[in-house]
Amino acid sequence: MRSRDALLATVLILGAAACVTQTSSSRPPERPTVGFGHPISEADVAPWNIDIRTTDGRGLPSGRGSVAQGKVVYEAKCIACHGPEAKGGAMYGTMVGGIGSFKTNSRVVTPGSMYPYAPILFDYVRRSMPMDRPLSMTADEVYAVSAYILHLNGLVPADAVLDQATLPKVQMPNRDGFMLDDRPDTRAVRCMRGCK
Ligand code: HEC
Repeated sequence: MRSRDALLATVLILGAAACVTQTSSSRPPERPTVGFGHPISEADVAPWNIDIRTTDGRGLPSGRGSVAQGKVVYEAKCIACHGPEAKGGAMYGTMVGGIGSFKTNSRVVTPGSMYPYAPILFDYVRRSMPMDRPLSMTADEVYAVSAYILHLNGLVPADAVLDQATLPKVQMPNRDGFMLDDRPDTRAVRCMRGCK
């Protein structure tokens, strides 16, 4: 062994011994703690968890609103874009009527003519309206303005009060107007695990 190699070998052995001595005499190093964040709880998630099962309203929040209250909300927050009595305004066409028009050549799409379930109206309005301030309304305001729009469409009476129990019971005229697309090339088999 040349002397330089011998020196290197000695250094390596000493180094290894030092390592052994160190690990055998002290505990493994502790994980550094950064102190950021905390475990997430159901309550933390709740403000974001606004899913509603629109067929039966599961997940609708508590709260309530009447047609009369909805008219006040509508005139303060919606009329600028949707026009008086939701008959069409600067930003969007009518949200009233058109019921039955899907069977004609002049289809009019409104919540009354299209939505199969009333909780869809609540869900849509809560998530996206007013378009310039989405998610800014209370549940009471959303129930109320939904009641007002449903009333304008002739689907609830003028004294209706909607909440998580009564809204899903509103019968929408287009409830059975949808059909599953059964063309073979659109058939997708749902796969949750081990999918190809
Ligand atoms: C700044 C303008 C603006 C305001 C204010 C506004 N909307 Fe809208 N709204 C729109 C536009 C634009 C659309 C169409 C969106 C699209 O097709 O993607 C729309 C669509 C809708 C629809 C869907 C209509 C349908 O035929 O399916 C509903 C319901 C609705 N708005 C309710 C409301 C309510 C209730 C308010 C008040 C709380 C409101 N909007 C305030 C602009 C607005």
